[in-house]
Amino acid sequence: MKPAVAGRKPGVDASREGVEPAALVPEHAAHVAELEALDSDLAAAYARGAEALAGAPDTATLKERQVTLLGRERGTITLELAKLPELSVEVRKTRGRALNLIKRWLGEVEAARRRALEQAEEASAAAGLDVTLPGRRPWVGRAHVLAQVQEEMLDLFHGLGYSVYQSPEVESESYNFTRLNFPPDHPARDAHDTYWIDPGAVLLRTHTSPGWVRAMEERKPPLRLVFPGRVYRSEQVDASHMDQFHQMDGLFVGRDVSMADLKGTLATFARAIYGPRVKTRIVPIYFPFVEPGCQLDIACAICEGTGRARSGQGRCPVCGGSGWSELLGAGMVHPNVFRAVGYDPEEVTGFAFGMGLERIAMARFGIPEIRLFLENDLRFLKQF
Ligand code: PHE
Repeated sequence: MKPAVAGRKPGVDASREGVEPAALVPEHAAHVAELEALDSDLAAAYARGAEALAGAPDTATLKERQVTLLGRERGTITLELAKLPELSVEVRKTRGRALNLIKRWLGEVEAARRRALEQAEEASAAAGLDVTLPGRRPWVGRAHVLAQVQEEMLDLFHGLGYSVYQSPEVESESYNFTRLNFPPDHPARDAHDTYWIDPGAVLLRTHTSPGWVRAMEERKPPLRLVFPGRVYRSEQVDASHMDQFHQMDGLFVGRDVSMADLKGTLATFARAIYGPRVKTRIVPIYFPFVEPGCQLDIACAICEGTGRARSGQGRCPVCGGSGWSELLGAGMVHPNVFRAVGYDPEEVTGFAFGMGLERIAMARFGIPEIRLFLENDLRFLKQF
């Protein structure tokens, strides 16, 4: 590092103070003399201009002065040159020659001053550089917490032999409901739950289960597939409900696939995601596309299954005192769903399950508010 000169700000090089034109252009005196012989007023004007440029304390000021003198439209020299045609032939000759010399020489002074200032700026930037400081960590982005959870689940099911099947977010009524054995008056078809694009015909899928129907129509059994993706429901948004969220369904179809296979798969899944000692239970529940249908619950992460608030007073606010929270829906594929895709329910059986990724991430990381996933607040996202 250069020693700081007494009385000057450290890091500001001495050459930033203005200099004499002669220090930049050795022929300066000769130039002035040559102009003197042509026109003493112009010689004096040149000397002032050269001093102004050489004296510029920084590149911005230099630029300003250069524009004032030599600017293409309003520069003093430019305007003087434009007036030449109005003058008599003799005057025009000498004045024209002087002005053109001034233009060239001022350009030289300006260029020399600019080089000097740029070098000084670089040197002072380097003077402020302490190579012993620890480096600044480059800012690295990362996958969204939901993408991470989805990736982890896909990895888990890949290990269990499942492949990924993508199906459309804009879906027909038939795939979303009818072929999944929804009765015509099922409440999920209601306008309160479904975003219709063409009412009664085209909608935003309300779950990822329509993917099963598409996959089964395209392929023959056995099948082992997962269906990740975004789904939509016209819901009142609050801390635990969003009108769009993510699901992942799974489908296993073959000969003699049983409820025991389903239980084993769900237990493997729950242990992989929540640890080997997680407490689970399976309770019966109705979904039109499975029979029997069930729901997998895990012991509430907040009250650890006791159902009591942490204060010891009253019920746990998260599970409402039951000690359990619902994790996913599942069941044995309904024979009507097989019939709708041309599978023979006497030949094949299968199980399916479907879960909400937000809910899984919330239970896993103790996230209290579903809207956080879509707010793109780095203070939230950076934690995962
Ligand atoms: N599709 C159901 C839902 O969104 C979940 C589910 C999937 C239930 C598979 C049973 C079997 O609620």
